[in-house]
Amino acid sequence: MPTLLAIETSCDETAAAVLQGFGEVLAHEIFSQAEIHSEFGGVVPEVASRNHLVSAPEIIDFALQKAGVQIRDLDAIAATTGPGLASALLVGAATAKGLCIGSGKPFLAINHIEGHLLSPFFGYEKIPPHTAMVVSGGHTLVLDVEGFGSYRLLGRTLDDAAGEAFDKVAKLLGLGYPGGIEIDRLSHSGNPARFDFPRGMIDSGDLDFSFSGLKTAVRIFLEKNGTPTAADLPDICASFQAAVTDVLLSKLFKAARQNKRRILSLSGGVSANSSLRSRAIQLAGDEGLEIHFPPPGLLTDNALMIAFAAAHHLAAGQTDPVDTEITPNFNPSTL
Ligand code: KG4
Ligand code: ZN
Repeated sequence: MPTLLAIETSCDETAAAVLQGFGEVLAHEIFSQAEIHSEFGGVVPEVASRNHLVSAPEIIDFALQKAGVQIRDLDAIAATTGPGLASALLVGAATAKGLCIGSGKPFLAINHIEGHLLSPFFGYEKIPPHTAMVVSGGHTLVLDVEGFGSYRLLGRTLDDAAGEAFDKVAKLLGLGYPGGIEIDRLSHSGNPARFDFPRGMIDSGDLDFSFSGLKTAVRIFLEKNGTPTAADLPDICASFQAAVTDVLLSKLFKAARQNKRRILSLSGGVSANSSLRSRAIQLAGDEGLEIHFPPPGLLTDNALMIAFAAAHHLAAGQTDPVDTEITPNFNPSTL
């Protein structure tokens, strides 16, 4: 069983993982810079890359120690090479390449989206055909997946990503960064039917999304009604969350029907959302479909999902040259 080290630094998490085979976790370490960036109300690329530079060597050493392996014991070293913040990606990718050059181990350049995409099937040697939705702070995508390496983009957001909408609305509500989890928490005691926020593009006929109108609707609502009272805040959060959930699930299930898939997956940070999860499970049950989510710890950014994607690349005989460039922008054709 091959043993891999993976490094993830595409945004504000510095992470390293050691994976044996497809599912034996030897180490899974994450240092989140969220607290550092919360002061600025969002991720500052320069600050992220400087912190990656400090944390990456420590977290890699720690992961190797925890796994009880040395570089010479590894079969390959992987890093996220895109999409993400250029200055942040460079740190993890350059570190992995340096380790590969020094040790003679093969390098694997892994797409961050593929990491999220495969994470609901962590441990699987074979990825089943399914309809996938990746909902994170940077992306909102629906894809048809035939198996590992065979992905077809069906729809994507035309403006804000779902997580970005959560974070921007949380900011409008004075809830800090990243705000998705806080909106989720407050929604538990809120009434999702109290305010009727727009479900952008729900009837557009395609599988694309738009969340900027929803964000604007919340802003206008707050301008009209003033700072929400503690009693209204949970209802606003729950009503906003219901609008996002309705649009996401309507398109996910539509995509599954169109492609005659019986298996669905939801991944990325927003797939941690409790309302999205419970409604998705309920709808899948109603239609007799199987739905998969990433295991705990693989929802938001981490290196284990990168190691898992890398394990599939390695098993397929795919490695990459050490001069592979980073690709900060999302390009569906390179997925
Ligand atoms: O996948 P991820 O860690 O990073 C990207 O690749 O972008 O996703 C982070 C996003 C943030 O926007 C965060 O607010 C959102 O996931 N998020 C949530 C929840 N937990 C994290 N959104 C809604 N509900 C949650 N429970
Ligand atoms: Zn991510």
